[in-house]
Amino acid sequence: MKKNITVLNGDGIGPEIVREAVKVLDRVAEKYGHGFVYTYVDIGGCSIDKYGVPITDEGMKKCKEADSVLLGAVGGPKWDSCPAEIRPEKALLAVRKELGLFANLRPTKLFSQLSNASPLKESVISKGIDLMIVRELTGGVYFGKKELKTVNGEEVATDIMPYSVHEIERIGRVAFESAMKRNKKLASVDKANVLETSRLWRKTMHRLAFEYPDVEYSDILVDNTAMQLIKNPTQFDVIVTENMFGDILSDEASMLTGSIGMMPSASLSDGKLGMYEPIHGSAPDIAGMNIANPIGTVMSVAMMLRYSFDMKDEADDIENAVNKVLDSGYRTADIMQEGLIKVSTDKMGDLIASEI
Ligand code: IPM
Ligand code: MG
Repeated sequence: MKKNITVLNGDGIGPEIVREAVKVLDRVAEKYGHGFVYTYVDIGGCSIDKYGVPITDEGMKKCKEADSVLLGAVGGPKWDSCPAEIRPEKALLAVRKELGLFANLRPTKLFSQLSNASPLKESVISKGIDLMIVRELTGGVYFGKKELKTVNGEEVATDIMPYSVHEIERIGRVAFESAMKRNKKLASVDKANVLETSRLWRKTMHRLAFEYPDVEYSDILVDNTAMQLIKNPTQFDVIVTENMFGDILSDEASMLTGSIGMMPSASLSDGKLGMYEPIHGSAPDIAGMNIANPIGTVMSVAMMLRYSFDMKDEADDIENAVNKVLDSGYRTADIMQEGLIKVSTDKMGDLIASEI
């Protein structure tokens, strides 16, 4: 099968980790007889430096025309003082919005080989951690009206968090469907004791819950969720939540797995077009050092094959390869443990590719 993939390396460690994921994709193409064609587009700080904008119109068009999009990471201290309109993150949000990628899936799985790397006690994680965070990605406070004005000589800032029923309903459906394919448990996270958007969220989810009687549904407040994720993470199967809560909780959850470097994500639309990226950032402090963990990005391309291209065997193959490499004791610096073998970013990519 021939597939066009638009590749957004981005900033910091972006180019290094994406290179390894592409290496793995090339190996899959070779083994299964596929043709993956890559089109590289600048995004984030590197695009600001070249073109004065975080993504060009032409670049955005290449994302829309692709069969799927692969992203490294954007941003860094160099561009922190850019005006809000041209910050690197702006491009990422624009791609999510323009491609209609409203459903962000963030699987949080503790590889058994890494149980020592998790900061939680063995007694808490002994049953394993395997949950799916379904984050709404194109609504809420990220995209609501923003304002900074001066009132009585003092600066006042406002960010509005809007949610409409259809936005809640479509992400709710993704979450219920995901729960049906997993352990049929769904926790909907909100702040309905305070926020109007959360009360609408809860009402809409309850309506959907009637359509999915097989799913064990519960409401949970976001602050309590933050606590429960540490106290008893194995109680969760699928978690669904709005954009900003999902951003925060997915970073918290990633730590259960030992390293944020392990976590992939898929951002999906109504159709087959998706964007795939690790959940971590551009890590400018280690950029160019060939020490970053490429596994989150490699696992993201496995999700690309599964969700956008319906290539289940190929996706399984990548995930098994990652497992084998971890079984053999190879670790990047972030997940290194005594007695194991420390490897660089590109060596980790080579090892995974060679297991396919
Ligand atoms: C993420 C990131 C982004 C977000 C940033 C870079 C805008 O933290 O994908 O989780 O907040 O969505
Ligand atoms: Mg985040």
